[in-house]
Amino acid sequence: MKLLVIGSGGREHALAWHLARDSQLHKIYVAPGNSGTARESGVENIAVTNPEALADFAEKEKIHLAIVGPEAPLAAGIVNIFRARGLKIFGPTKEAARLETSKDFAKRFMSRHGIPTAAFETFDNAIPAHDYIDLKNAPLVIKADGLAAGKGVIVAPTPEEAHRAVDEMLMDKKLGPAGSRVVIEDFLEGEEASFIVMVDGKNILPLASSQDHKRIYDGDRGPNTGGMGAYSPAPIVTPEIHAKVMREIIRPTVLGMEAEGTPYTGFLYAGLMIHEDGSVKTVEFNCRLGDPETQPIMMRLKSNLLVLIEQAIAGKLDQADAEWDHRVALGVVLAAAGYPGTPRKGDVIDGFPEQPGDTKIFHAGTSDKEGQIVTDGGRVLCVTALGANIRHARKHAYAVADDIHFSGKQLRRDIGYRALKPV
Ligand code: AMP
Ligand code: GLY
Repeated sequence: MKLLVIGSGGREHALAWHLARDSQLHKIYVAPGNSGTARESGVENIAVTNPEALADFAEKEKIHLAIVGPEAPLAAGIVNIFRARGLKIFGPTKEAARLETSKDFAKRFMSRHGIPTAAFETFDNAIPAHDYIDLKNAPLVIKADGLAAGKGVIVAPTPEEAHRAVDEMLMDKKLGPAGSRVVIEDFLEGEEASFIVMVDGKNILPLASSQDHKRIYDGDRGPNTGGMGAYSPAPIVTPEIHAKVMREIIRPTVLGMEAEGTPYTGFLYAGLMIHEDGSVKTVEFNCRLGDPETQPIMMRLKSNLLVLIEQAIAGKLDQADAEWDHRVALGVVLAAAGYPGTPRKGDVIDGFPEQPGDTKIFHAGTSDKEGQIVTDGGRVLCVTALGANIRHARKHAYAVADDIHFSGKQLRRDIGYRALKPV
């Protein structure tokens, strides 16, 4: 059976690696993939990214089903295109993906359905936006409405910074059309966690909980990144919090999308802010799996991923069950020089150590050049390990991460520290 994974990051490497466990049964194509997917047995990269061209490929090669990793092809309507041609694909339609691709849509949707989130207003013009900032107390959070590759959210501790963010987006058009409309919302206190589920339009299968580290430097300092490391499970997601998130956020979202005529299918990611008092608010939705959260989640998934996805596509997630390794998985991202700004590319990566059992080096921004593996993106690798507890998982992951060398390598040394705190 032939499968197609769309994307080129660590998330897609982890998906292809998990699916390739049955590599005697399947051939897995990754479009476009990276040096890591190129080296998995049973996996082949294809240099195609355009959604129509991917549908042509799927038709010609009789691909059994496609799985979409990143948001860009979803925003471009790849699911609509595949479905219109009778091709099986797992992901949300363009309309359902608005939960991620328009912050204004997501916030209004949450208001309509009573889903807890920060109070907000949306603005197309700078003058009323400035007036609103003057009315509210800082800190405030200024968000570009559209997709902005991780650069669209400014947490403004002071009114001056909030005013500046509004001017940059609405007046200077620093983020282009993505920033031509902004959401201004209240700052939420608490601890973040990632809550990822599979959805078949009606039924929901929660995946294991996880947390990532968004800031570039230790102690959660410095600029935001796509994620410098992640682990699963997240101890802060207690059974009570889990039940509350399903009841107050996930179920109303899935029901609401169905009621509005845009049923949600695919992976759905709710970014949570969990307050000390036990209340939970939605920071954002992503219409896909998280990266790097997927890497530890896939390390822990014991069930057959293809079977779960087939059940989702058939609308039978109510009959699905996911089995998880009881151990902890933790992933440390190795990032390139310059990240999260413009990353330097082409640095040779050497010292790929043996990967002891229970450790896996997932590739993200890597490519092959003249027989060597070189850096080719901001987040280069994610070294992920299983351990009996978070300390063990962390020790195993860093032992391998420290043996990998490339010029300008950046990594955080404190991944998982929140999970070490008593909760
Ligand atoms: P988003 O793309 O909406 O997830 O925002 C990126 C990051 O900004 C989040 O992961 C949070 O760390 C932070 N953030 C976004 N919205 C808020 C908020 N209302 N309060 C506090 N932090 C926020
Ligand atoms: N790690 C957060 C994300 O995938 O957006």
